[in-house]
Amino acid sequence: MSNQIPEDVISEIRQSTDIVDVIGEYVQLKKQGRNYFGLCPFHGEKTPSFSVTQEKQIFRCFGCGKGGNVVTFLMEIEDFSFQEAIRYLAERNGIELPETALNTENSLSEENQDILSAYEWLTKLYHHLLRYTKDGKEGYQYFNERGITDDIIDKFQLGYAPNVNDFTTEFLKKKGYQAQTLVKAGFLSLHDDGHVTDRFRGRVVFPIRNHLGKTVGFGGRTIHDQEPKYLNSSESDLFQKGKMLYNFDLAKKHIRKLNEVVLFEGYMDTISAYQAGVKNGVATLGTSLTEMQAKLLKRYVDTVIICYDADKPGIEATYKAAVLLRQVGCQVKVANLKDGMDPDSYINTYGPDAFQHEVIKASHTFMSFYMRYFKRDYNLSLEGDRINYIEKILQQLATIESPIEREYYMKVLHDEYHVSMETLKEELEAYRQKLGTKKDKRNRERNTNKKTATYASKKLLPAFHNAERMLIAYLLQDSSIVDKVQEEIGASFNIDEHKIIVTHLYAFYEEGNPPDVSLFIEWLTDTHIKQVVAEIAMTSLQEDINDKELNDYIRLIKTQNSDMVHLESLKEEQRIAEQQNDPIRAAQIAMKIIDIHKQLSKSN
Ligand code: GTP
Ligand code: MN
Repeated sequence: MSNQIPEDVISEIRQSTDIVDVIGEYVQLKKQGRNYFGLCPFHGEKTPSFSVTQEKQIFRCFGCGKGGNVVTFLMEIEDFSFQEAIRYLAERNGIELPETALNTENSLSEENQDILSAYEWLTKLYHHLLRYTKDGKEGYQYFNERGITDDIIDKFQLGYAPNVNDFTTEFLKKKGYQAQTLVKAGFLSLHDDGHVTDRFRGRVVFPIRNHLGKTVGFGGRTIHDQEPKYLNSSESDLFQKGKMLYNFDLAKKHIRKLNEVVLFEGYMDTISAYQAGVKNGVATLGTSLTEMQAKLLKRYVDTVIICYDADKPGIEATYKAAVLLRQVGCQVKVANLKDGMDPDSYINTYGPDAFQHEVIKASHTFMSFYMRYFKRDYNLSLEGDRINYIEKILQQLATIESPIEREYYMKVLHDEYHVSMETLKEELEAYRQKLGTKKDKRNRERNTNKKTATYASKKLLPAFHNAERMLIAYLLQDSSIVDKVQEEIGASFNIDEHKIIVTHLYAFYEEGNPPDVSLFIEWLTDTHIKQVVAEIAMTSLQEDINDKELNDYIRLIKTQNSDMVHLESLKEEQRIAEQQNDPIRAAQIAMKIIDIHKQLSKSN
């Protein structure tokens, strides 16, 4: 497992890490009893079956079966190697690693590592040029004129790519990068005749960081009204526009604290808003919101405030994003921007306070946005249109869960279009019933599936199997019963996985390790076995096991064991009898086998 990082450092890292904090950066966790629950990040789901225990420092998804400790989690979600996960946690907790540990195994291909480091160099170079040199002065002035402070320029590492062809290529070639790698990295443009030029030359550069804070792409904006206004790095393994959100790494902790995220369309909007104190903002990367991005947000928050430009394309995009976000289960609000404005121009005109209070805090509900949005499609001075419009709104209103909100908008319709409250209520009820039957049906189907699933898994677990699991659960939390169990059963558990687990567990305790599931999981190498251990460890137990319970488990396991041995030998005898052409004997043995099976199923 770990060779370059010393055990005592790993142990220090483990002790200073809380699994709830780490996983909380990927999943919105809610405490329920002793455990935390959330939506599993490893498979799509709408009801939480992903659970984390702080006490045991392990996680487990009851939907897809993934489980383990904090290191396993990071390895799974980030595709980290063991050492990378440890390095990441060390960095996070400000623990210094010995030199030898810094350049160890990496899960990225060598080329991708080169691409990352090239981006790191360029980010620093472009930023330095902008901030401190004559070559970058134009870029600096540009941001200055747009009201961006030095602090924010530094925070977002904004830069400038000089208007000199091959500047970037030459710089990186001198550092030893292969031309081919640089093309793949996406910051060069490859021309028809095979020569390459700097993609961003003469533009201000917005480094696009992934959720770990590493630059994986650039957005470049012209400062001389060239076309196109914005250019992005071309897509690569590391830079996939539909999967990432701009500024997610910095916004994450604010998003978690506020349980709200503000979704922008542009880099400048996000940065301006951040400067204006709205720090929980992210943006798409020049494309419309994807389902992947919507689901990513849903994992973190319940409420998304859409703050797109208040012009026609912005409003269309708002509608599309809102529908998608509601589909994945988010609550949607729409920021209260003045017609024709975008967030950045609003902040520059009215200032940060107005932006915070009159735009973000004064966001509209989805329903109110919806009513305005569809008004444009109808000529409301015509009776027919008016009726169609009201019906359209009622249909949508039926999907709103809050009765107060429903009542509120019925009142709005009543006041505006003079339809009686009774009629509106009647119609809304009809729509809700239709929806309800659909929903009930879905729920029924879901519940039946769930029931069969748990029933099936219960049925698959006979008494001895449960006894083995319970015993392992106790062994994991209490090393004082190990000697007795080892003496009485040894590794003769009936389920192969359990055999493997106890064998390792005996060795683990023999080495003097304390009862610590998370540590034990780290000690194991096989992913599947780790998952089974996490699952068993999640079983809720009495604090201590009493002798009677312990003896019962041991007896159940042993009986099964001897019955199994007996069965095996009978089957062997039966085979021999058949070979010797002794049908009477074979039939007698068959009877015995049936008897044992009966006994076994009774005791189960
Ligand atoms: P500023 O004009 O600098 O304030 O930027 P903006 O964010 O207001 O730009 P706009 O609203 O026009 O576009 C929003 C986002 O769409 C930008 O941040 C870019 O990511 C993207 N975008 C805009 N124009 C282009 C373009 O010409 N090409 C590409 N690829 N993306 C663009
Ligand atoms: Mn703008």
